Amino acid sequence: MISKGFVCVFCLQFEAESMADKKVHLFEEVAKHNKTKDCWLIISGKVYDVTPFMEDHPGGDEVLLSATGKDATNDFEDVGHSDSARDMMEKYYIGEIDASTVPQKRAYIPPPQAPYNPDKTPEFVIKILQFLVPILILALAFAVRQYTKKE
Ligand code: HEM
Repeated sequence: MISKGFVCVFCLQFEAESMADKKVHLFEEVAKHNKTKDCWLIISGKVYDVTPFMEDHPGGDEVLLSATGKDATNDFEDVGHSDSARDMMEKYYIGEIDASTVPQKRAYIPPPQAPYNPDKTPEFVIKILQFLVPILILALAFAVRQYTKKE
C-alpha cells in the first residue's frame, strides 16, 4: 500500500512525459517553422514536426511546406491518406494547437450587386430589336431578289 506523503516517482515521470507530449503550442509559434529543415504542421488540432520526414514524404516536401502556417487538416484529408500514413503521424506528434490562436478563415463576402432597376424599358427595346433586325434583313433580301427577278 502506498502511504500518505509517498510520492510515486514513476507516476510523476509518466505525468511529466505525457504533459510534455501534450504541450499546447500557439499558432504564431508553429507558423514560424516553415522551412525544409524545420517544418511543423497543424492537422486536426495536433502539431507535427515533420522535419525528419521531408525527404521521405511520398507526396514530396513542397506540398508539406505549402501546408505550413495554416490549419492543414483539409489539405491532408483531401489527399485521402492511407491508414498507414495516419499511423506514421504519431512519430512526428509534438503537441496540441491552441485553437483560439488559429486565425479564422475569412467569411465569404459576395460582390456588391448592381442596384435593382424596376424600369425594364431599355431591356425590352433591345429584345424587340434583336428580334426585328434579322427579320428586316431577311425581308430586304427577299424584296431585292424579287425586284431583280422581274428585270
Ligand atoms: C504528418 C503528416 C503526413 C504524413 C505522415 C504523410 C504521409 C504520407 C504517406 C505515407 C503517403 C503515401 C500514400 C499513403 O500512404 O497515403 C503520402 C502521400 C501524399 N501526401 Fe502526405 N503525409 C502527411 C502530410 C501531408 C500533407 C499536409 C499534405 C498536403 C498538403 C500531403 C500530401 C500528400 C500527397 C500529395 C501525397 C501523394 C499522393 C499520391 O500521389 O498518391 N501529405 N503522405
